[in-house]
Amino acid sequence: MSFVALDRLVRGGHVPEAEAPRVAELWDEIRRLKRDKRAFLPAHNYQVPEVQAVADVVGDSFELAVRARDLGPEQAALVVFCGVRFMAEGCYTLAPERPVYLPSLEALCSLAEVDAADVAERQEFLRAAGRRFATMTYVNTYADVKALSDSCCTSSNAARIADQLGVPDILFVPDQNLAYQVALKTRRTYLPPPEPHKFHPREYAEMIEPLIREGEKQGLVGNVFAWEGACHVHHQMSLEDIARIRRDDPGATVIVHGEVRPELQRAADAVLSTSQMAKYVDAHPEQTRYAILTECGLVVRLELDHPEKQFYKPCRLCRYMKATDLESVYRTLRDEPPEKRITVPEDVRAGAARAMLKMIELA
Ligand code: 13P
Ligand code: SF4
Repeated sequence: MSFVALDRLVRGGHVPEAEAPRVAELWDEIRRLKRDKRAFLPAHNYQVPEVQAVADVVGDSFELAVRARDLGPEQAALVVFCGVRFMAEGCYTLAPERPVYLPSLEALCSLAEVDAADVAERQEFLRAAGRRFATMTYVNTYADVKALSDSCCTSSNAARIADQLGVPDILFVPDQNLAYQVALKTRRTYLPPPEPHKFHPREYAEMIEPLIREGEKQGLVGNVFAWEGACHVHHQMSLEDIARIRRDDPGATVIVHGEVRPELQRAADAVLSTSQMAKYVDAHPEQTRYAILTECGLVVRLELDHPEKQFYKPCRLCRYMKATDLESVYRTLRDEPPEKRITVPEDVRAGAARAMLKMIELA
């Protein structure tokens, strides 16, 4: 987000008028501490605007991972990551020589709660079935799961990476909806996940085998085995959210994130990552009305960047992304509390770093 004046945040209802003096004071203090401590503040596109306004870089999860890798020791002595835990962990994974702090320990992610032992079990199942497969993990996972994968990916590059792994089959962990997008774009059969916590090898094999045979008949190049994860924000969006917009304003452009259900991806005009959404709006000056189905933080940022355009609001809030506020960023930067320092055991970190670097290379 380009610099946004405080009075615009107040006028837009993002900062209550009574709190404006405190926000101004916190901005000054944060900027002073950043200079004094040589601290770097990355922020995800979903963060509240008063946090984005004081960040050094705002982006999607891929852009923030690349910045973490490229941040030289001379540029920053510490990082305060304004996002969720897996992002801060990814930042540490790629540059472990520098302390990384997460302002709120509540900033988790409903996708990331995957048990690495369950992933290993699924890999064993595919090996035993004689499948030639690679494991791709969405960056919305923790390091122990990343370490089990051949490559990480984000919503901005998943299909491109799947195409370059050189095997017909992909075990895609953990987002079942992004798995659909990968299957569609890479001409693979989408194999739906088992029910959460109900993986039974025989029942699962019986469910997927007819689908695999059908895909082979159609000449598809392989299969995407979807994991049973979903984002609590995007998975609750419904086709009716899009149908309502189409009825009320057929000229509006409907853009969805890759984490929404397959039927919404098919009904949208574009399926994009958060930063790709922002670039799409920048690149289409002629288009003035949008419905963007993702977390509301991105839509707020677009409203501030493009006051001349209209954004309908079928968006939803992610309580994890909203766990970080300006006060927690300030206190974390000031105090560097040890309990907020994010680290990963070195043997796990090395495996996760390999998978993240593979993503950056292939993307
Ligand atoms: P992006 O990579 O598109 O920013 O998505 C991250 C995320 O958490 C989506 O919910
Ligand atoms: Fe995780 Fe969904 Fe929140 Fe993104 S929006 S951080 S995927 S819970």
